[in-house]
Amino acid sequence: MPTIKAIVEAPIKIEMIFISFSLPMFPAYRYNFKTYAVRENEPKDYNYMKNITVEEAFESAIGAEKAAQEFFLGLEAKFSHNDEVSQLWKQYAEDEAMHARWLEGLKAKLGQEELSESIDEHTVQLLDTVAKISVEKTLEKIHDLEDAYELVNEIESGETNAIFRFLVDNFEADEKMRDFLRNQLNEHVGRLTIDLPPQFRGATARRKIKAAA
Ligand SMILES: [Fe+2]
Ligand SMILES: [Fe+2]
Repeated sequence: MPTIKAIVEAPIKIEMIFISFSLPMFPAYRYNFKTYAVRENEPKDYNYMKNITVEEAFESAIGAEKAAQEFFLGLEAKFSHNDEVSQLWKQYAEDEAMHARWLEGLKAKLGQEELSESIDEHTVQLLDTVAKISVEKTLEKIHDLEDAYELVNEIESGETNAIFRFLVDNFEADEKMRDFLRNQLNEHVGRLTIDLPPQFRGATARRKIKAAA
């Protein structure tokens, strides 16, 4: 450690110390995010934005997968009079339960230091959107298979899968496992077109299949 005398006698050093104190504060996150670039100009009110840790992000994401499972179980009940359709929703619900378990497993592999890091603001916004989705209100909007088809399409191209993908991309260290999970997600999203029985692939046919109240 330099003595005070040495610092006083070295104006350059003093200037350097001053510069290091006047540098702007860095945002809290330091992860090497692969899917989201850090913005060059952070908003002035950055420090007032919601701070969410990796651990909280995992918990919200797991909650979102469980809510999705609940939604598909609701659909299964609404279409229980049609075996083929209800089987598809049952499969979706099982996928969602599996997504929740995978995220729980992934979270369990992370250390406390990593879990306490802050998540980036883009993911915070995704998590916010997902938290506002009500399973009950969404199910109320479904009167026939076409309603269900449109909503599932919307949900599966939405935030829950974006968060799942983000967590897998950034926190699954094993490349093979990462590829496996990405493939599982693609297969899951593709069910609506691939696993939907051919007789229900037209909107007019889907309108005729009514949902139970
Ligand atoms: Fe899911
Ligand atoms: Fe899903």
